[in-house]
Amino acid sequence: MDENKGVSRRKFVGGVVTAVGVLGLKPSVDLWAQGGGAQGGGAQGVSAQQPARRSRETPEEYDAYAKLAANENPYGPPDSVMEAMTHAFKYANRYGYPDGGIVEEIAKLHGVKPENVLLGAGSGEILDVVGTTFLDNGKKVVGVEPSYSQVYQHATSVKAAALTVPLLEDYRQDIPGLIKATKTHYRDVGFVYLCNPNNPTGRIVTKKEVKQLLDGIPEDMVVLIDEAYHHFVDDGEYATSVPYVLEGRPVIITRTFSKISALAGMRLGYAVASKELIQKMRPYTIGSINATVKWGGVAALKDTEPQAKVKKITLDLRKKTMAELTSMGYNVIPSETNFFMVHLRRPVVPVIEEFRKKGVLVGRPFPPMNEHLRVSIGNPDEMARFATAFKAIESAASKSKADAGASKSGTRHHS
Ligand SMILES: Cc1ncc(COP(=O)(O)O)c(C=O)c1O
Repeated sequence: MDENKGVSRRKFVGGVVTAVGVLGLKPSVDLWAQGGGAQGGGAQGVSAQQPARRSRETPEEYDAYAKLAANENPYGPPDSVMEAMTHAFKYANRYGYPDGGIVEEIAKLHGVKPENVLLGAGSGEILDVVGTTFLDNGKKVVGVEPSYSQVYQHATSVKAAALTVPLLEDYRQDIPGLIKATKTHYRDVGFVYLCNPNNPTGRIVTKKEVKQLLDGIPEDMVVLIDEAYHHFVDDGEYATSVPYVLEGRPVIITRTFSKISALAGMRLGYAVASKELIQKMRPYTIGSINATVKWGGVAALKDTEPQAKVKKITLDLRKKTMAELTSMGYNVIPSETNFFMVHLRRPVVPVIEEFRKKGVLVGRPFPPMNEHLRVSIGNPDEMARFATAFKAIESAASKSKADAGASKSGTRHHS
């Protein structure tokens, strides 16, 4: 299939806005998107480029991998959460069971009312619901690229499109670019997507920049702010955007229990927004959240000490791994999340496969950053396996490059 089919490019003041049409969100992006196999880990289906073989791995094969591909919490839920979920199994045969007050607990955490909270089977469901709700009549989503592509992918699946703005040179999000794109295409824009911190780069949008964005676009424009990695941020320039909901702005904040709370396989996420926006979205949710994760979620909100430990060890390991790669001469993008990107200076696709052969799953490619490898922070053992594999793969690559150079110069010498 033609890579550029359905993609039209338009010169744009201050940058290039790429309109991604219904025919495809650059297949090279799409086909790796969070597949169902070990390398993916999301709720989406298995793609053509991710062979079905991956999803047919035996549990033993899956377990044996160092899983650094999907930004999960490698330590699993703490005892308090496991106990709450185990207790909730007694409701396995019921419909109208007590749910532990999960909506009320989330509302309490954010200082909002239960009517401001919408649950989803993972925040991924909410992202899809936002698309379905606000991209009617061919409306488009505006956001940067690369970002969490499920949002753009869903837009194409509801026959809408994404207008994407490139990242800045330092891989941060181009806020003036997003403002211009939104204003220029105002009538066609259904909502703006801001992933903060951004996946795959790990970079934040500062609280000042969020305000700049919200103040710079028409005041009725819906903005979806995805805070999936909120809990890993240390930078004081960052803040949650939940207060904008309380201010009455049309923002939708999404959070997930899949990352710091280690409940990715159990599926729980939510949106915080105005009552009006929640009411618009609610009809599109499926209501498929299970009894166990509702109770697990409540326990996770109450027992935050284990999360602080996970954050500390994750950030320590990130620092250590990044320092090691930097000392080996690689550029690493500063990160505020449980993953980071390293610049390999060569195409990343074959390298991902080499890692897999060595039992290490790393992130998929994120075009147009085709030479950057995204690595999730696993546990200490997984990170040691990553470091060993990285050294082996990279030294083999430099050796074969040197050999090629030598034989080339050898040929010249003899000719
Ligand atoms: C930025 C971002 N948003 C949302 C999600 C969806 O996560 P979940 O559906 O498990 O809540 C992910 C998952 O990787 C993500 O990286």
